[in-house]
Order: sequence, then structure tokens, then C-alpha cells
Amino acid sequence: MPLADVKLLELPKIADPRGNLTFIEGMKHVPFEISRVYYLYDVPGGETRGGHAHRTLEQFIIAAMGSFDVLLDDGFDRKRVFLNRSYYGLYVPRMVWRELENFSSGSVCLVLASHPYDEADYYRSYEEFRSVVRT
Ligand code: TYD
Repeated sequence: MPLADVKLLELPKIADPRGNLTFIEGMKHVPFEISRVYYLYDVPGGETRGGHAHRTLEQFIIAAMGSFDVLLDDGFDRKRVFLNRSYYGLYVPRMVWRELENFSSGSVCLVLASHPYDEADYYRSYEEFRSVVRT
């Protein structure tokens, strides 16, 4: 999918002096039914996560705590999105290569996914991904 289909979306935020609350409903705040949730945490400084694209999976990436960069590549163009607010999320459609880096200390990357885990859905080789989208 073209990078134009990547969207930074603002989420509902219930501001409260007791602490703020944000919620996400499938097909309402994200454009897919949520099938799986996972999170990255205790990421050592300087490490990179991701480094793959998906044949069918759609994802929504949130900096639930702290901050990090998401590098996106559709096989033609690249862009970098900095996430540092827990009431924003990045919608990543299928067939977009992503890398996550520059994690701040103590950060938590929360990911909502449209399907259960399936290794066969991954492109783990950038060269293979690029050649598929370019043909
Ligand atoms: P991977 O998706 O490569 O991590 P990231 O893109 O966040 O850097 O997954 C790392 C490992 O964890 C890999 O062996 C597969 C496994 N895994 C699961 O078993 N279930 C899951 O839902 C996810 C996301 C990963």
C-alpha cells in the first residue's frame, strides 16, 4: 500500500485530574477489527525492532509510554514518524515495511493487530518485499 495510506490518528482522551483515559474500539477508532494485542517493552537503548512487512496484516502502533520513531517504506518512498503521545496512534496498512528505533528509556510500544500471529504473513527480507511491490 502507498505511504499515503499510513495515518497518524488522534484517539479519544478523557482528561481527568485522577489520570487520563484513552480507549480504542475496532472499526471505529481503528479501521479494522482488533484480533491481537502485543507490546514491546524493556527495549535496550539503541535497539531496533520491526524490520518486516506483512502480506495482509494491518496494525495500529501506539507509544503507550515514552517515545520512538517508526520508519515506513512502501518500496518506493520512505518516511519517519515520531510517536510520543499515548492518545495518538499510527495506522500501518498491509504491505508497508516498518522499523522501530530510537526508543526512549522505559518506553512501551503497544500494537493492535487485525489478525492472529502468522509467520507466513511476514516479509522479513527487504529485498524480497521491494521486488514484490515493484512488479
Ligand atoms: P516480530 O514480529 O519479529 O517482532 P517486532 O516486529 O516487534 O520486532 O516478533 C518477534 C518474535 O516474537 C518472533 O519470533 C515471533 C514472535 N511473536 C509471536 O509469537 N506472536 C506475536 O504476536 C508477535 C508479534 C511475535
